[in-house]
Formats: sequence, C-alpha cells, structure tokens
Amino acid sequence: MDKRASRIPSTKQDILQAVQRIKKGELVAFPTETVYGLGANALDARAVHNIFIAKGRPKDNPFIVHVSDEKMLRSVVKTIPPLAKKVMKKFWPGPLTILFEKNKKLSPVVTAGLSTVAVRMPAHPLALELIHKSGVPIAAPSANKSGRPSPTTVEHVHEDFGKKIFVLDGGKTKHGVESTVVSLSGKPKVLRLGAISYEELKKIIPGLVVDVKLKKGVASSPGQKYKHYAPAQPMILFSSLKKLVSYAQLHKDSVILCKEKNIPLISRTISKSRIISLGKTDEDVARNIYDRLRTKKGKLILVLGVQKKGIGRTVMDRLERAATKIV
Ligand code: TXA
Ligand code: MG
Repeated sequence: MDKRASRIPSTKQDILQAVQRIKKGELVAFPTETVYGLGANALDARAVHNIFIAKGRPKDNPFIVHVSDEKMLRSVVKTIPPLAKKVMKKFWPGPLTILFEKNKKLSPVVTAGLSTVAVRMPAHPLALELIHKSGVPIAAPSANKSGRPSPTTVEHVHEDFGKKIFVLDGGKTKHGVESTVVSLSGKPKVLRLGAISYEELKKIIPGLVVDVKLKKGVASSPGQKYKHYAPAQPMILFSSLKKLVSYAQLHKDSVILCKEKNIPLISRTISKSRIISLGKTDEDVARNIYDRLRTKKGKLILVLGVQKKGIGRTVMDRLERAATKIV
C-alpha cells in the first residue's frame, strides 16, 4: 500500500496556524508545485534574515518572493514591462520566476542588495492560500539546508531541519524541480533552468537564450555559483551505460540510479538490490531525482544521465551541479 495514502494532509486549522506564524515573523515550510519552500514575510527584514541563518545560505544569494495576485506583485516592483505581462498571462500561477526592478518597500536583505527582485506566483492551492491569508508576499528559498537536494516531501524537510520546523503537508510535489528563473529586461535570458522547459518558454519569448554557466567566476544569478543538490555520498554522473556498468562491477559498494528502461540490461551483471529506478519518463525523473539523491544506500552513487532536451535539460543541470565527477 502507498504509505502516503494514509497520511493526514494539512487542514484548515494548520493553514490558520501557518498564517499566524507568518504574521508573527516566524518561518513556515510549505508545498509548492515545484519543491517545498521555507517561507517568511518578505516585508519583515528580520524574518527574512532568519531564513539565511536556518538554511546556512550565503548572504549574497537572494530569495524568490512569492505572491498570490497581481496587486501583491505591484506592491514590490517598480513596473511590469509588457513582455513580463505576456509571459505572466501564459505561465502564472506556475513554476516560472521573473526578475523585476524592485521598489523601495522591499528590504535589500531579500534581494541580497540587487536592484532586481525575483517573483513568482505558485500554482499550489496551499501555497496560494497561505500567501493570500497572510496578506503579505512570502520570501522563500527551497526548504533544504544549503547545498543539499531540494525537498519534495515533508519528510525531506524534517530530514534537514528536524521536527522543530512547522511544515504544511501537501504530499509529494508535482514537478520535483524548482521554477525556471528568467530575466526579461534586455536580451531575454533563462538564469536557472527549471520546471518549465526552455523549449516551451522559447515559443512565447522569441530570442530567449540560456545563461546558466559561470563566466570567469561571475554568475548572472548568484545561486548558480554555489554547490547544490549534493547527496551525502559522492556521486558520479555517467553519459554511457557501458561505462557505468563496468564501474559498478568494480565498486561493489555503489548504487545505481537510472531510468526504468535501463534496469533489465544493467541487472544482467549487477544485483537488482543495487539499482534504484528514477521512473519511466523524463518528467518522472524530474519528480523523483531529489528523493533518490537522498538515498541512504551505498557508499557511492552512480547516475545514468538523460538527454539534454525538454525537462531532461533541467535534470542534467541539477545532476551536473550535484556530481563529484562527470564521466
Ligand atoms: O521553485 C522554486 O523556485 C522554489 C520554490 C520554493 O518556489 N524556490 C527556490 O528558491 O528554488 P531558491 O532560493 O532555492 O532559488 C532561487 C534562485 C537562486 O538561484 C537565486 O540566486 C535566484 O533564484 N535569484 C533570486 N533573486 C534573484 C535576482 N534578483 N537576480 C538573479 N537571480 C536571483
Ligand atoms: Mg534552492
């Protein structure tokens, strides 16, 4: 039986408690359609500062501000340019984060001193209700300790922060990878690959380019320069199944993460107990990857990469950042 079937999802009572906590300047973890966020009132600089402390997050890495309606967006930005309006109409509420010029109402703590603020309207009903009922925009990074895989279940949040953190329970998240971050001023750019694929975005934003790599140590988006998504064990990312199998034969203490279709071939020479499925499709892989990277099995994790197209491009971005070595 699916263990999640018997869990108790968050109730109205829990939401009210979460709202009270946000209003008091406390931190609340909540589900979004991408990953769980660790939220605080974006207009309360002290509360936002406490997110940095709780996560162990570098101070120069700003947070995404989550809003529940356009009025709330207007309360933190200078203007909404026409291209942003078009993109919002198509993708909001949803897993797309857009950079805007920030206004004075927002403390520089949220934006790490940058003149822009990253904003998104999440599509998860619990997230929207929490923001709407709190009546303030909510600053929220992913609810993991800095450097760890992002949380896609309540259990992941507890794993990183213990039970002391208040978490709204929305079960397993839908997309499993974070929102796509775009800059629309000047040449439109993807600053972080995410749940909305580059291909899908390009249909609406002509001339869109991907700008997620460091150039001489400088990143267009601060988060891109830090180590991310790393499992507790060392992880090697393979593009060739043959090389992965040879490596696994020599390293008996390793476990393998791969798509379901690869299991029959790998299990010809490797015990099935060492193979962990990432699911059938690339969407499944996105949904499962952070959970699987949190495996307690083995002393070494070997991952078979996927094709860099559609959501697979996002998955590979995460795996390349998480990897100790790429073969
Ligand atoms: O799906 C998501 O986006 C999740 C959920 C909780 O909404 N949030 C999330 O937040 O992934 P976080 O803090 O883990 O990642 C935010 C990313 C970082 O890479 C950060 O550097 C970038 O957004 N960012 C935030 N503000 C920025 C800004 N003003 N300019 C450039 N990049 C910015
Ligand atoms: Mg994060």
